[in-house]
Amino acid sequence: MQETLQSLLQQRLGDALLKLHVDCSLALVTPAADIRFGDYQTNAAMVIAKQERKNPREVAAQLIEQLQVDDIAATPEIAGPGFINFRLTTSFLEKQIATLLNDPRCGVALVDKPQTIVIDFSSPNVAKPMHVGHIKSTVLGDALARIARFLGHHVITDNHLGDWGTQFGKVIYGVKNIAKSKIETVHQLVELYREVNEKEEHDPEMKAAVREELVKLQQGDAENVAIWKEVVAISWKEFENIYQQLNISFDECLGESSYNEALEPLVKRLEQEGIAEESQGALVVFFKNHPTLAEKPFLIRKADGGFLYATTDIATLEYRKERWHPDAIWYVCGMPQQLHFEQLFATAKKIGISCELRHISFGSILGEDRKMMKTRSGENVELNALLEEALDRAFKLVSEKNPGFSDAEKKEIAQIVGLGALKYADLMQHRTTDTIFSWEKMLSFQGNTAPYLQNAYVRIQSILRKAKEAGEVVAFDSIKLQEDAERTLALQLLQFAEVVPAILSDARPNILCLALYELANSFHRFYEQCPILKAEESVKQSRLALAQLIGCVLRCGLELLGIKVPERM
Ligand code: ARG
Repeated sequence: MQETLQSLLQQRLGDALLKLHVDCSLALVTPAADIRFGDYQTNAAMVIAKQERKNPREVAAQLIEQLQVDDIAATPEIAGPGFINFRLTTSFLEKQIATLLNDPRCGVALVDKPQTIVIDFSSPNVAKPMHVGHIKSTVLGDALARIARFLGHHVITDNHLGDWGTQFGKVIYGVKNIAKSKIETVHQLVELYREVNEKEEHDPEMKAAVREELVKLQQGDAENVAIWKEVVAISWKEFENIYQQLNISFDECLGESSYNEALEPLVKRLEQEGIAEESQGALVVFFKNHPTLAEKPFLIRKADGGFLYATTDIATLEYRKERWHPDAIWYVCGMPQQLHFEQLFATAKKIGISCELRHISFGSILGEDRKMMKTRSGENVELNALLEEALDRAFKLVSEKNPGFSDAEKKEIAQIVGLGALKYADLMQHRTTDTIFSWEKMLSFQGNTAPYLQNAYVRIQSILRKAKEAGEVVAFDSIKLQEDAERTLALQLLQFAEVVPAILSDARPNILCLALYELANSFHRFYEQCPILKAEESVKQSRLALAQLIGCVLRCGLELLGIKVPERM
């Protein structure tokens, strides 16, 4: 594995510990909490002092005596209760940056042990519109897939469409008895569903008829199956349109219906093996000795014989295991389904599925009033409408900034900026924090936003274009870090290699957003403090190379988040 600054210092620390005959896995090197004191720090002395009941500052002094870092850093210093601070030498940073300049991966190493990871995300429900809640699963799942692939994992993305379920009784009944014309849009389907839902409340006969349609569908009745297929196709067309706009695709779209055939034998087997048992006419999986699920059995067959969302998810799990032998399966799905996934994972254990199963949950998207986002008439905001508004607003913004661009170019940039802003707003916070949805904030050219980062990238490209026009060539071998601003930039550029691999352990693309934001900030400081094109020749070369590198890292980082960069804006 390629070394990062952090792993290099960690190794050196390990060597020193070995010399002192100390075995301590908790002694870690981390980026400095306060850069005034150094670039990296370690808590090693404090951890060891506690372990051996010694004075931490004394342990720190002993450790420093053994630490061999003079080829890469100044003599480490002790701070506060016993931290050891490292400051890398400028010449070492210059050398490291030079290697980065020729690396298309911006320094990010491939993992030593690639894993096979199935990522289940987006998964909207047919005959219902995709709403703002689905955007998070879609954007987060896609970013995680991109990052895992970039790190060298074998990723299978699977859209577990909700294309089967009780809603179809109502929809089919509606199509047959209520619809006045041919149904062509999800909107019409939703209207129909709503109407049937309301009417059957007060009409037991209708309720029975609706139920009958569902049973007929489940039994394979030709007419009902045909209507169901039509409804799925109508929905899929709209979903596809959204995915295309968002530039998101899936390896598989194995909806719930793909597992219909598997449910009956699965449930039988679980019953035979004693994993599921009867309870009040229904079939359930009990987790009697489980710390939190003892009172919460998993319902897999209703008393009327019907199968459930849960049953399908168990079948899906078995299918994925057989087909891909994954090391991990990640479910990117909202917090309200937490119990469902706990039960599913506990069931998996019982049936001997041992791969890592992770529910990657996330908070809600709230309006600026901090309440669930709704339209004026009180409905969920549809994703379609949201995308349209993002494009409109970005178009206006781009037009104000660049009145001279052609409409086609404005449109193209608006697409990149508007959708980028929307995605970024979802990714920049810790995923479990609720997002407050604000167009002004997400489309602002200031602050931690996609347009701010895109703008920094564009500015760099414009400098590089000007340099090219003036006949400059960016020299890759002449990095000189003279000013503080340059040194800070170099450090941040090299730390990209540490940030990207750290994202997956807790599914936190927000740490990448923060790193990119800080890099863009540092670029602006550098741009203000250090003349580039007007600098003297040798310095100019170095600054151009730095600028180019920042552009590469910004582009690479944004691409990992599923966000594009424009060349002009
Ligand atoms: N269709 C579900 C929903 O919209 C999400 C499915 C998540 N994936 C799964 N394997 N259960 O709520």
